[in-house]
Amino acid sequence: MENLGRTQELLQIRACLKAQRNVLLEGPVGVGKTHLALYVTGDLKLPVFRVDGDNRYSEQKLSGWFDPPSVIQKGFGEKSFIAGPLVDAMRQGGVLFINELNRLPEGVQNVLLPAIDERLIVVPRLGEVKAAPGFLVIATQNPKEFVATSHLSEAILDRFELVVLDYQTQEEELEIVLRRLKSFLGGGASLKDESLLALASVRLTRMTRSHPRVKRGASVRAALSIAELAYVLISEGMSLEKAFYEAVLLALPTRIEIEQEADSEQSLRQELESLVKQWCHETLKNSNNLAEKKN
Ligand SMILES: Nc1ncnc2c1ncn2[C@@H]1O[C@H](COP(=O)(O)OP(=O)(O)OP(=O)(O)O)[C@@H](O)[C@H]1O
Ligand SMILES: [Mg+2]
Repeated sequence: MENLGRTQELLQIRACLKAQRNVLLEGPVGVGKTHLALYVTGDLKLPVFRVDGDNRYSEQKLSGWFDPPSVIQKGFGEKSFIAGPLVDAMRQGGVLFINELNRLPEGVQNVLLPAIDERLIVVPRLGEVKAAPGFLVIATQNPKEFVATSHLSEAILDRFELVVLDYQTQEEELEIVLRRLKSFLGGGASLKDESLLALASVRLTRMTRSHPRVKRGASVRAALSIAELAYVLISEGMSLEKAFYEAVLLALPTRIEIEQEADSEQSLRQELESLVKQWCHETLKNSNNLAEKKN
């Protein structure tokens, strides 16, 4: 897996892991939390067990459950127990990677407390499960300000070191998009189109983060979508300008939220479309100038 930049954050995460501390990665949507967690755990040479937090996730799913037909045959015990990611990670001294920890119900989060503190949990009808050396938790979450974000309890927070992720620099985002676009293409478009598309996508999404009409801006994930969609449309014969506009209109509405003008007679969608038209025009013009200067 390819990673760009994040030197400081990688240093922080690796120091935590070396010191046997649990890590919480926090940052806005699409900033690269999951990516970075997978990237660091990838070169740890430890088994990784992944949990994707949602509000219906149960304690049984996390620690493990008994398979009813096996229980009938063999009774309760190791032979009828299907280990969940927590028990697997503890027993194998691996990493439990909990994506979006704050979305887990509080009761499920609390199962982690003894696992982290005493390195031991008690599974009903199975008994004690001890953590082998190496067992660690890496988790991600969106910051409090984000809509639909529930908060982690003080007890849970107290057991994690916090690594805060902000958006990367324009140069790094551009490189992420360019590389992805190149591997996505495998030839075809000219180099000028690639650089122009990547630059325009990155600049446009970055602009949404500070635009006065935008309440919630878009991440590099949006830039990746725009560049790839535009490329597909161009290869179907569309002009670059039109393809870029269509791609932005496909990729952006789910990812940004705009403030409606008080006296506007247009619908929110119409307002968004005219903003997008204006943004695309400006970004393409500026990016084109930049790309030409470089050549
Ligand atoms: N440093 C990086 N190097 C290469 N690619 C990256 C980097 N950071 C993010 N990406 C890419 O950007 C996209 C978004 O990243 P990711 O899914 O990790 O964000 P996230 O913060 O977990 O988002 P969410 O809050 O929605 O879960 C992914 O396609 C990821 O591979
Ligand atoms: Mg994620």
